[in-house]
Amino acid sequence: MSPTINAWPASLQAAAAKAAAGTLTLLVLLGAGPAANAQTAAALHTRSLAATCASCHGTSGRAVDGAAVPGLAGQPAAYMVEQMKAFKSGARAATVMHQIAKGYSDAQIEQMAAYFAAQKK
Ligand code: HEC
Repeated sequence: MSPTINAWPASLQAAAAKAAAGTLTLLVLLGAGPAANAQTAAALHTRSLAATCASCHGTSGRAVDGAAVPGLAGQPAAYMVEQMKAFKSGARAATVMHQIAKGYSDAQIEQMAAYFAAQKK
């Protein structure tokens, strides 16, 4: 006999049903509107992209004092976009950034630049 949900004790089944109902309520509560959700998803996506830079540039682009890698927080977005494109094309020499920059589209670079520009130094 393969174990199915029907093989669960009644108390467990009730708990599972309650948990599912709770999740549904939460989703309904969170769903303030499709536009709000899309905005939140986009913001989360940008934050995830920017998080890939944290290992070298610090959390939210804030480099620790004396770090060899420059901080990104509060840098003008236009400057950052220009630098990333220069790394990508090879116009700006780099030790690692020329490889990293190639992994992102221009649109992603612009999103990350806006994100870091908005972070406090
Ligand atoms: C493996 C470490 C590492 C990671 C990960 C990394 N960087 Fe860098 N970054 C550097 C180093 C080192 C430099 C200095 C240039 C060089 O030697 O490559 C730099 C320089 C830069 C500069 C130029 C800063 C200035 O003041 O001119 C920008 C912009 C930048 N990185 C953006 C990013 C972004 C955006 C990400 C994430 C997508 C990222 N970096 C991820 C190591 C890293």
